[in-house]
Amino acid sequence: MAKVTFLGHAAVLLEGAETTLVIDPFLTGNPVAATGPEAIKPDLIVLTHAHGDHWGDTLTLAGKGATVVSTYEIAVYAEKHGAQAFAMNIGGSYSFPGGRLKFYPAWHSSSFPDGTYGGMPMGVVIELDGKKIYHAGDTALFSDMRIIGQEGLDLALLPIGDTFTMGPNDALAALELLRPKQVIPIHYNTFPVIEQDGAAFAEQAGALGVRGHALKPGGAVEI
Ligand code: NI
Ligand code: MN
Repeated sequence: MAKVTFLGHAAVLLEGAETTLVIDPFLTGNPVAATGPEAIKPDLIVLTHAHGDHWGDTLTLAGKGATVVSTYEIAVYAEKHGAQAFAMNIGGSYSFPGGRLKFYPAWHSSSFPDGTYGGMPMGVVIELDGKKIYHAGDTALFSDMRIIGQEGLDLALLPIGDTFTMGPNDALAALELLRPKQVIPIHYNTFPVIEQDGAAFAEQAGALGVRGHALKPGGAVEI
């Protein structure tokens, strides 16, 4: 069993019996964040790409002992700023106590707030305590999501905000390709330009046979 807590925007905390991971920990400066970086102590920081609304509090959390796991470019940048990091790229997998993760493509862009190139943007499938969780990162809809669905996903975390990523309709089409058991919409209602109706999305997901949870920041599910 794994506990999945939505921290706001694209930030998600995954707690297994042996390992705690945070994905895209943008908390400080996030107007809807459920918590600040002081309240969490992950073992691993998994970054889908380098944009400021994903990189967020990475260095603060790395300073508390967490290891950054991401692209080669993000790992080099993190190490340059004093963090411990493990460099990877799309297609690669990484094992940790209680699980394993594998990076997949995402259709987006990736640069740090200071303009440094962040490598290719990614999505990630994390197997934690026997459950498979897909965090799509920031992405458009793409047909290779069908391949990601072959993992047999227990949960998908999909952006629905539109403007920078898929909107709700494309995220529903993504569900047809991914076929997860459950879905949590992310990357919406943080800023006016990505306002969406998460509850309506969750209901429409249900009509496709996928259990949807429109979590408020701080909300959690156990899978
Ligand atoms: Ni982005
Ligand atoms: Mn983003």
